[in-house]
Amino acid sequence: MKTEIYDLKREYERGMNAAAQAIASGKLAIFPTETVYGLGADALNPEAVAKIFAAKGRPQDNPLIVHIADFSQLDLAAAEIPPLAKKLMEAFWPGPFTAVLKKSDRIPDNVSAGLDTVGIRMPASEYARELIRRSGTMIAAPSANRSGRPSPTLARHCIADMQGRVDVILDGDAADYGVESTVCDLTGGIPLILRPGGITAEMIKREVGAVRVAEAVLGGLKEGEKAASPGMKYKHYSPNAKVVIVKAERTESLAFCMNMLYDKDVAEGKRPLILCMDALDRLFEKKAHCCIGADERAVAHGFFDALRRADENGFDQIYFQATSVGGMGLAVMNRAIRAAGFDVICAEDFMREISEK
Ligand code: TXA
Ligand code: MG
Repeated sequence: MKTEIYDLKREYERGMNAAAQAIASGKLAIFPTETVYGLGADALNPEAVAKIFAAKGRPQDNPLIVHIADFSQLDLAAAEIPPLAKKLMEAFWPGPFTAVLKKSDRIPDNVSAGLDTVGIRMPASEYARELIRRSGTMIAAPSANRSGRPSPTLARHCIADMQGRVDVILDGDAADYGVESTVCDLTGGIPLILRPGGITAEMIKREVGAVRVAEAVLGGLKEGEKAASPGMKYKHYSPNAKVVIVKAERTESLAFCMNMLYDKDVAEGKRPLILCMDALDRLFEKKAHCCIGADERAVAHGFFDALRRADENGFDQIYFQATSVGGMGLAVMNRAIRAAGFDVICAEDFMREISEK
C-alpha cells in the first residue's frame, strides 16, 4: 500500500482532506494528538476497525479508544453517563483523559474487544478534533506504533513503524505530552485509573475528592489475575535495547550503581546508554548518556523518543533513572517499568550486595 505523507504546517488543507477522506471511506489515517500519534479508522465501521488490528499486529482482545470532537458525540458512544463522570469530562476535556463508560450499541464489538464498556476521549489537539469533524464520524485510534514498540511522539516514528501499512500519515510535529492519555474507569463509584497519563491522580482527586489507582499500574498482573484494562497485560513500549530501571534514595548511590553496571557492560563488549534527568548530566560526563528533561513532565515528553533513538544509535542496553511516582511521574514509571519488563534495580540494595561479597 502506498502511504501518503503530509506535513500539516505546509499542506494543511490537502493533508486534512486526504486523511478525512481516508477515514470516511473505511481506510486508515495516522494523525497527531497532544499525547501521542493515533492510528485512526471510522469507529462505527467494524471492517475499518479490523484494519487497525491488522496494521498494528495488535491482539484482538485489546480495546480501542473512541475519539470525539465535541460533547454532542458523547451520547452516540456511551450508554450511561454517571454524574461524577460528567464532572470529570467537563473538567478535563478536551485533553489527555479517557473515560471508560458503559458502551452504546452503536459501537461495534471489535472497538471494545467484546467488553460492555468503551474508552472515550476528546483530544485537545486541534488537528485531531478537526480531522474528526471532517471525517463526519468518531475515530477509533490506538497509538500509531507497531504493537509492542514505543509509542510514537513524532511523525518520523509513525513512518518508521507504519509506512506501507496505512493510507495517510499527517505530520503535526512533536506530541505535547509524549505519553498516552489517562485511562479512567468511571463506571463504578470512585474513579479508577487503569493507565496513568497527563491528567494526574492528584488532578482527579482535586476535582471529585477521591481516586484509586489500579495495582497493575506499577506492578504486573498476578498469576491468574484478570486485567481490568486488557492493555495492562502485554509487553509494551519496548525498544530493541534491553531496559533496566535504576532507582535510588540518594544521587551518590545512583551514580555508583549506574557506573558499575555501565563499566561491566563495556568490559563485556556491550553498548550501554544512561538515560537520566538533566541534573545528573555532569555525573556521567564521560559515559554515553542522554538527559531527557528537568522534571517528570519533560521526561514524559522525551521518553519514547529516547528509547527509539537508543536503537537507532546501536545501543543494546539502557539504564533509566527512575523518576518519582508523583504527578506525571506515575505515567513515566508505568511506561518505563513495562519497557523494562519489570527489571528494576534498587541502587542501595545493589551496593549492599557488593559490599557483602
Ligand atoms: O493518548 C491516547 O490514549 C492515545 C491517543 C492516540 O489518543 N491512544 C492510545 O490508545 O494510547 P492505545 O490503544 O494504545 O491504548 C488504549 C488503552 C489500552 O491499554 C486499552 O486496554 C485501554 O486503553 N482501554 C481501551 N478501552 C478500554 C475499556 N473499555 N476498558 C478498559 N481499558 C480500555
Ligand atoms: Mg498503545
